[in-house]
Amino acid sequence: MAYSDKVIDHYENPRNVGSLDKSDEAVGTGIVGAPACGDVMKLQIKVEDDVITEAKFKTYGCGSAIASSSLVTEWVKGMKIDEAEQIKNSQIAEELSLPPVKIHCSVLAEDAIKAAIADYRDKKKG
Ligand code: FES
Ligand code: FES
Repeated sequence: MAYSDKVIDHYENPRNVGSLDKSDEAVGTGIVGAPACGDVMKLQIKVEDDVITEAKFKTYGCGSAIASSSLVTEWVKGMKIDEAEQIKNSQIAEELSLPPVKIHCSVLAEDAIKAAIADYRDKKKG
């Protein structure tokens, strides 16, 4: 199975790798795992006035999982959290031309951004 050029590009030059300060009130953290393969993805966002101003990820996983998380961090910067919550794994899979066996890698990225937003909202509620 061949990886698409976009997967290889994100895999070789991942965008926004790193961490944000978890204790920061404005930061939401999502950590999700894929039962199918054991890969783990951490995605963090920083939010100001309901807009995502910063996004970072760390992924222990396959090339498609790394590419999916890298792509999502690019997409969400500048988005409102309500918008970012609507991102579907199918959009990620389409953008990266993922084959069927790699669809769960994009699901991981959708789950991770949703988890990060949920964490941010929980924190805000205090
Ligand atoms: Fe091996 Fe995802 S299954 S890295
Ligand atoms: Fe499991 Fe990609 S996340 S193979």
